[in-house]
Amino acid sequence: MSQRYFVTGTDTEIGKTTIAAGLLHAARLRGLSTAAVKPVAAGCETTVAGLRNDDALALQAECNPQLDYELLNPVALAPPIAPHIAAREAGLTLTAGQLAAACSRVFERGAQLTLVEGAGGWRVPLNDRQTLADLAIELGIPVILVVGLRLGCINHALLTAEAIAADGLRLAGWVANQVDPQMDRQQHNLQTLRELLPAPCLGVVPRIEPLSAAAVAAHLQLDTLIAPTSGMSS
Ligand SMILES: Nc1ncnc2c1ncn2[C@@H]1O[C@H](COP(=O)(O)OP(=O)(O)OP(=O)(O)O)[C@@H](O)[C@H]1O
Ligand SMILES: [Mg+2]
Repeated sequence: MSQRYFVTGTDTEIGKTTIAAGLLHAARLRGLSTAAVKPVAAGCETTVAGLRNDDALALQAECNPQLDYELLNPVALAPPIAPHIAAREAGLTLTAGQLAAACSRVFERGAQLTLVEGAGGWRVPLNDRQTLADLAIELGIPVILVVGLRLGCINHALLTAEAIAADGLRLAGWVANQVDPQMDRQQHNLQTLRELLPAPCLGVVPRIEPLSAAAVAAHLQLDTLIAPTSGMSS
């Protein structure tokens, strides 16, 4: 069993990395091998080892067996800006095909659960012609949508789910992440999302302080992502 999912979100900074790390942690607790890819990361620190991105490092910490940074994050760009602009400034051209090839190198490791984290939302440009969605299409893998719970999220969630379906991909599930602890009528919003999104809810993650992948994992349901009989292998 080798399950692969593309993790997208209703926006940037709404919890894609947090939820992806939680899902990987939950899989590890079941004894499953895990891997992750952050194909393009804009917003990196210069270190002695090279450019390093917080998202990629958080995902790397939940990979078992360990995965080399360069495999996990093949394109690391320094400024925290739109990836196609950061790439152009670095003299690079991003393409869906090139990023898909990098993802395939991680898929070849054969982990039982591999998550690919996009950047921002579904239609973030890679170049003049292609978006992150083209990478997901090229990979042909189902999608997990992280919904950052705040005013306006129903619209963003439904538009994203429509775009995923229009692109011919399957929405495997969605996770509600409480990014706004003060959100008014949160339960009612959640009920509407449950009614209108065409996929199962994999969990509702509250605001967690201090945040850890283990604490997030406790709020997530893996059963629909992973066959229940597939656990406990090395
Ligand atoms: N449930 C939560 N409880 C507490 N803090 C959270 C929660 N979810 C996310 N955060 C915090 O919110 C910030 C954004 O989360 P995260 O980095 O996971 O978002 P993202 O969608 O992956 O962002 P990007 O678009 O930059 O990749 C982080 O600082 C993270 O620690
Ligand atoms: Mg992220």
